[in-house]
Amino acid sequence: MAVSVPGASTLLSAARREVTRPTPVWFMRQAGRYLPEYRAIREKHTLLGICANPQLAAEVTLQPVWRLGVDAAIVFADILLPLVPMGLDLAFVEGEGPLLRNPIRSPADIARLGETDVANALAPVSEAVRLVRAALPPTVPVIGFAGAPFTVASYAIEGGSSRHFVETKRLMYEHPDAWNALLAKLVRVLGEYLAAQVEAGAEVLQVFDSWAGVLSPSDYRRYVFPHTRALFVQLGLLGVPVIHFGVNTGELLPLLVEAGGDVIGLDWRLGLDDGWKRIGFERGVQGNLDPVALFAPAAELEKRVRDIIARAEGRPGHIFNLGHGLLPATPVDAVRRVVDLVHSLTA
Ligand code: CP3
Repeated sequence: MAVSVPGASTLLSAARREVTRPTPVWFMRQAGRYLPEYRAIREKHTLLGICANPQLAAEVTLQPVWRLGVDAAIVFADILLPLVPMGLDLAFVEGEGPLLRNPIRSPADIARLGETDVANALAPVSEAVRLVRAALPPTVPVIGFAGAPFTVASYAIEGGSSRHFVETKRLMYEHPDAWNALLAKLVRVLGEYLAAQVEAGAEVLQVFDSWAGVLSPSDYRRYVFPHTRALFVQLGLLGVPVIHFGVNTGELLPLLVEAGGDVIGLDWRLGLDDGWKRIGFERGVQGNLDPVALFAPAAELEKRVRDIIARAEGRPGHIFNLGHGLLPATPVDAVRRVVDLVHSLTA
């Protein structure tokens, strides 16, 4: 069994499935509104304004590293950014989330989507990665990320967040050829975008297929798997570990594993031990504290953190995280306690 080198990044060691002490910890959405220093910047800049400004993006990326002592920085961006150079009109509406004003609804809309020059248009994200990499010690890697083809397509088609994904599934069922063309375009764009982040210094990648869990295993296999698999094959050439994350994926886990990823992200709906068994111990696992547990009394939160660590059984390849992103009203103090507890319990 491989053991990590002292002074190396614990997150990279865990992603390579080496025995790692302490267990690395970071949080999805660790840069965000629960941090007062983030809110101070957001008072003066929009979300898209921060993403377009590498200095500001780097600053908010680093905020949780300094404040919490997490073991990785995730570059500040959004999974919807690549849709802008493809021709979609993206806005974030205060209190409502993302809005795409010209959603894709027909094969003709799909044919019109651009896919050239995307990496160039997204150069501020790579520049932010470069600045963050230069500011951090070598023990703290930068995580680059993108959405998976299905989740990004669902926003492009619905025009925003969705509950039932009716338009997405309708397009998938009615126009399977156009659907495949759309996902193939996204695979090329997202692959190029992620490669640019690695070139700029990202040492780990995370692919967010947040909403894959709305699909049945047979629909996932037929409409999504070939595309996600193609993306992971491309990413395999980049030489960095990749984390594959989704929510509500219990029944889909074997398919997500087959599609790709060195580490599979788990939400809180399965015990970490049960989830890891379904994934297979030859992959790493990331997760899986319920983000709402951070609102619980300190003793209850501690019990849940201890339970996750116990279920990992000291196996190599566990990255501690939430089962989904931090919520805006989360008490910062609880987040810090989780970092310290994970580190002290696994030292
Ligand atoms: O710290 C980090 O995690 C890095 C930054 C990051 C953002 N978005 C910035 C952001 C990351 C990793 C994302 C990913 C993302 N964006 C996902 C996948 C993760 C998940 O939650 O499943 C999705 C689905 C999106 C799309 C998106 N962006 C939504 C649905 C919303 C609105 C909901 C919300 O949380 O407010 C956003 C806005 C957004 N993206 C915010 C941040 C910090 C909050 C808005 C703000 O600061 O004004």
